[in-house]
Amino acid sequence: MARINDNYLKLAAGYLFPEISRRVDAFRESHPDAAIIPLGIGDVVLPLPQSVRDAMHRAVDELGTDEGFRGYGPYEGYDFLREAIAEGDFRSRGVEVSPDEIFVSDGSKCDSANIQEIFAQSATIAVPDPVYPVYVDTNVMAGRTGVADADGRYQGIEYLPCTEQNGFLPEPPSRPVDLVYLCFPNNPTGAVADRAALGRWVAWARENGAVLLFDAAYELYIGEPELPHSIYEIEGARECAIEFRSFSKSAGFTGVRCGYVVIPRELEGRDESGRAVGLHGLWARRSNTKFNGASYPVQCGAAAVYTDAGRREILANRDYYMANARQIRQGLDELGFTVYGGVNAPYVWLKTPGGAGSWDFFDAMLERANVVGTPGAGFGACGEGFFRLSAFGREDAIKEAIDRIRQAFGS
Ligand code: MLT
Repeated sequence: MARINDNYLKLAAGYLFPEISRRVDAFRESHPDAAIIPLGIGDVVLPLPQSVRDAMHRAVDELGTDEGFRGYGPYEGYDFLREAIAEGDFRSRGVEVSPDEIFVSDGSKCDSANIQEIFAQSATIAVPDPVYPVYVDTNVMAGRTGVADADGRYQGIEYLPCTEQNGFLPEPPSRPVDLVYLCFPNNPTGAVADRAALGRWVAWARENGAVLLFDAAYELYIGEPELPHSIYEIEGARECAIEFRSFSKSAGFTGVRCGYVVIPRELEGRDESGRAVGLHGLWARRSNTKFNGASYPVQCGAAAVYTDAGRREILANRDYYMANARQIRQGLDELGFTVYGGVNAPYVWLKTPGGAGSWDFFDAMLERANVVGTPGAGFGACGEGFFRLSAFGREDAIKEAIDRIRQAFGS
């Protein structure tokens, strides 16, 4: 028999969202008439913007002609998209990122999962707690951790508590680590970091020779104008940060799949002998070997997001989801729940009533209101006692969910 990667056996539980689906399926089987409202996984519901669809149609038609046919595309993405991104997401906000520092991919989950491959096996890791499970599980799979304790925390990972007391903003670790995963606006808490908070992180990373792995998948949801959208809005971040972006939540691409990574040319790590090595080249080498690029029609669709019409459409969709977030916040607030997030992020993070455990509250919510959320404990030990509701739903479904929660949990 072939020898397996034993590190997989350390994984404390199934991946969070399939585990939720499993529980929901079991409930559905025993309650076939229940009209379940899914506000668990953050999956978009609004149709693809017209401008995106038009661009994808045109691309497919082009591929059907002798002159327009294209085979393998550039590994790092087509220039037309990389240029549109550099202009639309960075230069327009006064941030210098050049097109050749952008690597287009088939989504940000894979990028944030795979980035650890270009770092040493011995690289030390810090993550916020609670955290998007991908950052942790991929390091477990790669063998950078020991086993998990009773709270699901792995030996060898430094967990940075995000609590009500610190406004769900993690403090830099007290000892140096090589890599720190950060996500703002945050999944799952909905917290957002201001310029000063990100400035402290950049200063700390530069002082300690660390690399910040900055996940900005939800940047479109930032509503307050003074908040930074990119880590590169902070002076010095080009020497210490990699940024991940996604079209999933901004343009409805959860099924279409497209995202990108930014690795500035000046960002360096060191080899065994201490010699500085550019991370851009390592990621390029990895991509060239393991990836053949996102498809041409998908990249054309992504580029359409940067047209005037595309921008208008994605902002309208964002406003729709953020109206949902407001409705969730307000409904829960009226019921006496303690709620966070949902202001610059599409996730509302609520405290479970009466100190209930997250999974117990998940079950209660499913059974009594037929509403699916995500148990905070699924994101880490500090998520225990919290619960996440996603604003990615139809407006009427959100209203119905709040009504049912009112009936189930109102006094
Ligand atoms: C979530 O619900 O946390 C996200 O949809 C997961 C993801 O983006 O992969």
